[in-house]
Amino acid sequence: MARVQLRNLEKIYGGAFKAVHGINLDIRDGEFMVLVGPSGCAKSTTLRMIAGLEQVTSGEIIIGDRLVNDLTPSQRSIAMVFQNYALYPHMKVRGNLAFGLRIAGVPKAERDAAVDQVAKILEIEPLLDRLPKQLSGGQAQRVALGRALIKKPGVFLFDEPLSNLDAKLRASMRVRITDLHRQLKAEGRSSTVVYVTHDQTEAMTMGDRICVMQGGRIMQVATPKELYNKPANIFVAGFIGSPEMNLIEGSLTDGSFVVGTQKLPLAPEILRHLPVLSGAAVLGVRPQHLELGQQGFTARLISAEFMGHEVNLHAELEGQRVVCVVGADEFERLGNREVVRLQPEMKSLHIFDKADGRNMLRSAAAMAA
Ligand SMILES: Nc1ncnc2c1ncn2[C@@H]1O[C@H](COP(=O)(O)OP(=O)(O)O)[C@@H](O)[C@H]1O
Ligand SMILES: [Mg+2]
Repeated sequence: MARVQLRNLEKIYGGAFKAVHGINLDIRDGEFMVLVGPSGCAKSTTLRMIAGLEQVTSGEIIIGDRLVNDLTPSQRSIAMVFQNYALYPHMKVRGNLAFGLRIAGVPKAERDAAVDQVAKILEIEPLLDRLPKQLSGGQAQRVALGRALIKKPGVFLFDEPLSNLDAKLRASMRVRITDLHRQLKAEGRSSTVVYVTHDQTEAMTMGDRICVMQGGRIMQVATPKELYNKPANIFVAGFIGSPEMNLIEGSLTDGSFVVGTQKLPLAPEILRHLPVLSGAAVLGVRPQHLELGQQGFTARLISAEFMGHEVNLHAELEGQRVVCVVGADEFERLGNREVVRLQPEMKSLHIFDKADGRNMLRSAAAMAA
């Protein structure tokens, strides 16, 4: 059992700076959990406390059924992969992979068998007799992964392991790691993963569930789909999804959302779910959910980013910047028009409380459910 539980976990650095504000998180056995958030939100601090590399100020960490607060890293049944994988430069790949087992006193024959098995899984057999300096970034990262894998830990901890790789390699390593996780699970090897990244694409493509953090607090824990469709607040809404969700400031009045001089009448099913029908609010609509049409907001086009299949249109709406994704052919038809109408898809709208950022539609729907 390699379930990981964090209970009221706090970290205060130097007796003064509170980096982690009492977080609670339950990571299931075999789950791939991603901790995501902007730089400085305490992802690494949290992960390092789980690893035992950082002292816990208060709260509990439970791995399996053991309280591990006072255990050393080697007693916790974890293996960690960092951004700077730092292989031993004077040792061949084989030696790097076997190092942990050698220190633990595992006999040579057993070590060799383990190295062969891990090398096969990661497809690095042809590299076993090379030195780290003879490896590409992706190959070195696979060796670093192998060093963690060979320990057969209950829990894998990853801290931005792909950040040093170029975009193409990052994309292929993403798939490799999730495939590996699936494979280990299918073989019945406990393989809980806690994976830290600042990259929402990595989080969305890799996580079974995602824990979105900001300022040492958890903003939302949910599946990628739920985060995308039902963000709990403005922060999650803006952080998850690409291009970013449009967050348009305005107010609710008489069944409409009002921005400057413009009024967007809201569908009855939205009005029915809103806890309040007037006051300052923020309208959230993803660029993919804004359509060019004869109705909706009037906006002035500023620029277009050609993405191939699609075009990201940047426009100005009552002094606020909005982005709309349209098909390349639709873009062609626009010709040199400067003013367009942007109609939000009603079923994909979000309305946030201006004061506390909470998603008013999600909380209403959650209460109804
Ligand atoms: N050893 C330390 N001493 C004091 N403050 C630290 C230390 N390590 C991290 N911090 C602070 O704690 C916060 C969280 O840092 P970190 O966990 O590294 O964030 P992240 O990994 O999300 O970028 C930051 O404000 C950082 O400056
Ligand atoms: Mg970090």
